[in-house]
Amino acid sequence: MSDVVGLRACIMGHPVAQSRSPMLHGYWLAQHGIAGRYEHMDVAPDGFAAFFKGFAAAGFSGGNVTAPHKVAALAAVDRLDEAARVIGAVNTIWREGDTWVGGNTDAHGFIANLDELAPDWDAGARHAVVLGAGGAARAAIYTLRKRGLEVAVVNRTLDKATELAVYFNALPGAAVSALAMDDLASVLPKTDLLVNTTVLGMLGKPAFDIDISALKSSATVYDIVYVPLETGLLRQACARGHRVVGGLGMLLHQAVPGFQRWFGVLPTVTAELRQMIEDDIRAKTSGA
Ligand code: ATR
Repeated sequence: MSDVVGLRACIMGHPVAQSRSPMLHGYWLAQHGIAGRYEHMDVAPDGFAAFFKGFAAAGFSGGNVTAPHKVAALAAVDRLDEAARVIGAVNTIWREGDTWVGGNTDAHGFIANLDELAPDWDAGARHAVVLGAGGAARAAIYTLRKRGLEVAVVNRTLDKATELAVYFNALPGAAVSALAMDDLASVLPKTDLLVNTTVLGMLGKPAFDIDISALKSSATVYDIVYVPLETGLLRQACARGHRVVGGLGMLLHQAVPGFQRWFGVLPTVTAELRQMIEDDIRAKTSGA
């Protein structure tokens, strides 16, 4: 298979050096003995379209897209998958014949991680609360509705939550409502899944300071923040006896479909891979 030697993929972002995608795809390339490459590509904030014009000529068979290019990538590709179209952002690009396809695997990563770490989380679950109204919230709402859950979007800026509710309610599926932070306590007692998609609790951002004491005792709590690995929300939820799910697995699982498209092998999120990335995060956050 001499043509396999040339397979090349990358993560396009700005800044991009902090991305752990090359580490995790590198792990799978080595595990499967594939002579491909997965590289960091720093693409200037307004330079995505120009960069992407030379993508095929540079030998890339696809790649991931991260901030700030996830919306610019929508227009750069030839076709979108359903998730990218509904979520309004592309995080994975691959080739189908002469066509560049833009997909969104964040929703897959979100739900696959939840299913892996809290297997029966949705048994009888009907109501989810999503904190935040950015791109990550859209991916979460998209996939939670597919599981039939009603979603309340709770955001510091109520207008953005309302915008998301109006947008999703125009599509078939479970109802989405919008709430201001001050009204969170009114829905927590019936909430089966609480998700944080805000930056609160992230390294270098304000601490998670939202009161979750009214949350239904059987609820699962999911923080998509994974730097640090143990966030303030997860500590608070653990102390209250909730089942908790951290965000690292979302990163790991969102990478699976891309690797399969570019390199032709369906990879597995192994305990060893998870440990490797956790060790890297701990090494970079300890004493920080
Ligand atoms: P992403 O695309 O990764 O979801 P984003 O679009 O920047 O990131 O969204 C960040 C989210 O964190 C938003 O919901 C934001 O709330 P606003 O819409 O009010 O800006 C939320 N957020 C950021 N800082 C916050 C803070 N100090 N308190 C509460 N929410 C905050």
